[in-house]
Amino acid sequence: MGINLALHVLSVMVWVGGMFFAYMFLRPAAASELEPPIRLRLWRTVFSRFFPWVWAAIILVPLTGIMLTAPWQGFTNAPLYIHIMTTLGSIMILIFLHVFFAPFKRIKRCLDEDDIPGAAQQLNTIRKLVGINTLIGVITIAVATAGKFYL
Ligand code: HEM
Repeated sequence: MGINLALHVLSVMVWVGGMFFAYMFLRPAAASELEPPIRLRLWRTVFSRFFPWVWAAIILVPLTGIMLTAPWQGFTNAPLYIHIMTTLGSIMILIFLHVFFAPFKRIKRCLDEDDIPGAAQQLNTIRKLVGINTLIGVITIAVATAGKFYL
């Protein structure tokens, strides 16, 4: 149980912390300092390095999460905050899968073809979706930690 909880929270740290850093700090800094072609290539490299870690997180978070429901013998008897965490976590995973297989795939193709406006459009979509996932991630952490006292 201890190892499961540590892996669960460490995976959440890498995923949500990574998105928070990218969205809140790297995005405005890159937007003010770099011209579009370089900025777009930077983001492609950043995502290529970050997304393998997110893949590990989207496997580990639900796997360890399901094992952590053992005290309630599964989901049926689990308290409300666990159900909210599971629902929000599933939405986050679906959003990431969409980002990975749609705009991220397209941004790579656009940059290979030197289509800078096309790549900018894809980055705009990724920005919005990562913003949404960061917000859901922060809410989920709040529910997961404070939830046991209130829900
Ligand atoms: C996707 C399916 C998920 C399942 C099935 C799941 C399930 C669980 C369970 C059963 C616990 C133990 C709760 C306790 O013992 O009180 C837990 C802890 C936790 N979960 Fe999740 N979780 C999931 C996703 C997430 C996500 C997406 C986040 C954050 C973005 C998250 C954040 C946390 C945190 C921070 C804790 C530690 C809470 C504490 O010990 O105070 N979980 N999770």
